[in-house]
Amino acid sequence: MTLHIIIGAQWGDEGKGRMVDWLASQSDYVARFNGGDNAGHTVTVGKAIFKLHLLPSGIIHPHTIGLLGNGMVINPASLLTEMESLRTAGISVTPDRLHISPSAHLITPAHQAIDRALESARGRASIGTTGRGIGPAYTDKAARTGLRMGQMLQPDFQDRLQAHLENANRLLVLYGAATLEVAPILKTFASYKDSIAPYIADVAVEVHQALADGKTVLAEGAQGTLLDIDQGTYPFVTSSNTTAPGVLTGLGLGLQAAREARVIGVVKAFQTRVGGGPFPTELSGDLAARLRGSGSNPWDEYGTTTGRPRRVGWLDAVLLRYAVRLNGLTELVMTKLDILSGLETISICTAYQAGGITIDGLPFGEYGLGDVQPVYTHFPGWQADLQPVRRWQDLPLQAQEYLRQVSRLAGVPVRYASVGPEREQIVEVPES
Ligand code: GDP
Ligand code: IMO
Ligand code: MG
Repeated sequence: MTLHIIIGAQWGDEGKGRMVDWLASQSDYVARFNGGDNAGHTVTVGKAIFKLHLLPSGIIHPHTIGLLGNGMVINPASLLTEMESLRTAGISVTPDRLHISPSAHLITPAHQAIDRALESARGRASIGTTGRGIGPAYTDKAARTGLRMGQMLQPDFQDRLQAHLENANRLLVLYGAATLEVAPILKTFASYKDSIAPYIADVAVEVHQALADGKTVLAEGAQGTLLDIDQGTYPFVTSSNTTAPGVLTGLGLGLQAAREARVIGVVKAFQTRVGGGPFPTELSGDLAARLRGSGSNPWDEYGTTTGRPRRVGWLDAVLLRYAVRLNGLTELVMTKLDILSGLETISICTAYQAGGITIDGLPFGEYGLGDVQPVYTHFPGWQADLQPVRRWQDLPLQAQEYLRQVSRLAGVPVRYASVGPEREQIVEVPES
C-alpha cells in the first residue's frame, strides 16, 4: 500500500504542480481529490509550459492513470477544453487513462453567475474568489440539491438541470444580477454527455484496489492548507477540505489507507496569497515588487488561473507549523529558493505579538490573525544565482542555512528544494 500525498502548506500556488510532475515519474495513479478549476498547476517541461486546472498534473507522464475523485467539483466545459488542449500538446487523454468519479459534483454556468453575484454583494468584504463557481457548487452539494457527474448519464438529467437553472435564476433576481437563458444551457449540456460518459468510472473502487495491489497512488492537493474550509483563515478560504484528511473523503478511502502515507508539504521560500484575508507577514513597496517579479518571467507571482498579482510576504513559520500538524506532514519540499538570491537579509516570522504578549501558535479569542504583529528572525542572504545549482554542496552556505532553519522551525525535514521551474532544477537536502 503506497499512498503519497502532496499538499500546499500555505495559501496555494506553492508549486504543487511541478512537484506532482516530479513524483509522478514513480507513481501509477495521480488523483485529484478536492476543488475544481479554481486550481492552476504549472508543469514546465523544456519549452512546454502546461497549466492544469482539473486534470491531475501527473497526466503529462504517459504511464500514469489520472483520477478525478468524488470530492471534486467539475465544470464539464473546462474539463473538455483542458482535455482537448492537452491532446493538441501531444498528451494522450483517453478513457483508459482518465477516470472520473460519478459522485463528483457538477459546476454549471449558474454556479459561476451566483459566485460573481455573491462576490459583488459582499462589496469590500469580498473573498476574491476565482469566479469559477466553486463556492455555489459546494453549497448545493451540502444543501443536497447538487448535480453529480454520474447523473449526466441518466434519462432525467435534463429535467434536473432545468430545475437547477430555474432555481438559480430566482436567486440571481434576488441579487439584482442578470438571469441565465435556460434553453441554450440545456442544449450545451446535452452535447457533453457522449464526450464525458466513457470517462465515468468507480474511482473509489479503483483506488482501493490499486493500493491493495501495491501500486503507488499520488494524491494531488489543490489550493493550500490555509484555504481549507474547516482549518483555513475562514471566511477567506475555498469551499473544500484542502488538507490531507480530505484525500480520504475526496477519493472514498478508509483510514487504513493513510497509515503509512508519505505526506509531502510544498512550501514556497516566501509567502504568497491571492484574494482577501489576513496575511501577517505581507510586504509592500520595493521588497514586495522584488519578490513578486514584474511579470516578465513565467514564474512571477501572477495567478495561474486568474492572472491577478499575488500578495507576497516573508515565510511564516507559525503557519507552517500549523500546516505540519494539521496535515501530519512527514516532510517538506521547498520551491522558489532561487527567487531569494540577491537579498541582503531574509526574514522568517517565528512568532506573533498581540496585545503585548508573544504567541507561537494561531491566535484565538480576542485577537485574530489580522490583528497580530509578526516577530521576525533575520538571516543573511546570498548573491549567487541558484538556478544552475543541482547539488547541495553547490548551494551558498547561507542558502543551506536557510533550509536548515526552515526544517528546524517546521519540525519536519525539508527534503528537496527547487531552484527553478524545470523538472531537473531540484536539489536534494541531506539528512542532518
Ligand atoms: P501550484 O498551484 O501550487 O501548482 O503552483 P502554480 O503553478 O500556481 O505557481 C507556481 C509557479 O512557480 C509556476 O509558475 C511554476 O512554474 C513556478 N515554480 C515552481 N517551482 C519553482 C522554482 O523552484 N523556481 C522558480 N523560479 N519557479 C518555480
Ligand atoms: P492552486 O491549486 C491560490 C483562493 C482564491 C480566493 C479563495 C476562494 O493553484 O494552488 P474560490 O474560487 O476557491 O472560491 O476562491 O481561494 N484560491 C486559490 N489561491 N491558489 C489556488 O489554487 C486557489 N484556489 C482558490 O483566490 O482567495
Ligand atoms: Mg496555482
